[in-house]
Amino acid sequence: MRILLIGGGGREAALAWKIVQSPLVDGLVVTHPNPGFPSDTVFAEGDAVTAARAYDVGLVVVGPEAPLADGLSDALRGAGFPVFAPSRSAAQLETSKEFAKAFMDRQGIPTAAWSSHEDADSAHAAITGACVVKADGLAAGKGVIVADSAREAHAAVDAMFDGAFGSAGHRVVIEERLTGPEVSFLALCDGKRAIPMLPCRDHKRRFDGDKGPNTGGMGAICPPPDVDQDLMDTVLRDVLQPTVDGMAAEGTPFRGVLYAGLMLTPEGPKVLEFNVRFGDPECQPLMMMLDEDIVPLMLECANGHLSRDRLLWRNGSACCVVMVSGGYPGAIDKGHAITGVRLPNRNQAAFYAGAKKSGTTVVNDGGRVLGVTAFGDNLEEASKLAYEYVDDIHFNTAEWRTDIGGGQ
Ligand code: GLY
Repeated sequence: MRILLIGGGGREAALAWKIVQSPLVDGLVVTHPNPGFPSDTVFAEGDAVTAARAYDVGLVVVGPEAPLADGLSDALRGAGFPVFAPSRSAAQLETSKEFAKAFMDRQGIPTAAWSSHEDADSAHAAITGACVVKADGLAAGKGVIVADSAREAHAAVDAMFDGAFGSAGHRVVIEERLTGPEVSFLALCDGKRAIPMLPCRDHKRRFDGDKGPNTGGMGAICPPPDVDQDLMDTVLRDVLQPTVDGMAAEGTPFRGVLYAGLMLTPEGPKVLEFNVRFGDPECQPLMMMLDEDIVPLMLECANGHLSRDRLLWRNGSACCVVMVSGGYPGAIDKGHAITGVRLPNRNQAAFYAGAKKSGTTVVNDGGRVLGVTAFGDNLEEASKLAYEYVDDIHFNTAEWRTDIGGGQ
């Protein structure tokens, strides 16, 4: 079977690596380039439906959220292709913060108190102190401002209504600010059932010690050592399965990856946000931890019939350290040759993200350049192996956090 993969970031590099290990797959077709895709990957010109038809693919896997907001999975399903991704309606769990919050209230899923506003005056009136200000729509991971004071929150509201996030900020959600450790819980879903994956922890802040500006993610670990089976059972019972049940009951069944970003508050886990796809960089350690063929699972989700209730995982931990271009998340300098990247193996893989081929070399071409991922018998070992590999990789201006999973 040929598989069409949409997206060309680090997440998709990890998905491609895992997908082509499947004996069911005899060809990978992609719509976006990534220098880390397997060498026999076919690059398809044109739109995804045309590519799916041209290569007669047996499954389409959509990595990023933006095509889902545009209805790509509906178009592909309408053309008769199985799609591992939610419909545009179901993707509203991520594409509209207001939709997600109202859905959680309707379904009794624990989340922070909130209000939604279509004009700046009403948003300002809802601010009483420290809070979280969210642009309603997709804002490339940047539309959430955690305000330490009312003054910061008012400034965030003004920025959003002044167009800092384009149309995503035409509606703003103001949320109670929660405290506690954050954990990402992802599940495979077939429209009826959520099968949990191992939990992960993303490190979004740019600098060591979770300091500095938010980024797309500077590293991820899987599983976090502070999450036990009881908590995983609670999250499946109180969040993941009720979300899938609620979406089905409301006529928008959810198929694909459901990602619940949770805060472990003193009152119990509460949902900070939903995503409707694998996290990036959480996907990289998850693919290294998954101890079975992912393709039958994706097909079962796409076809609405998951046949199992648990997944097989390697016994150990994985750690992903993201190497970025100097200046990220601000302005960066591109075009520097990257050296030291080896072919991936079961225990170490450097997944390219913001990078491109330039003649016979690969150069940095974006903020997040590589997700250097390693497996170990425990988190300390995984982190050590990831950082050993980071030390082997060079490009001018390269930077990274030194504390992911324990660190250097
Ligand atoms: N790592 C967070 C995200 O993918 O949204």
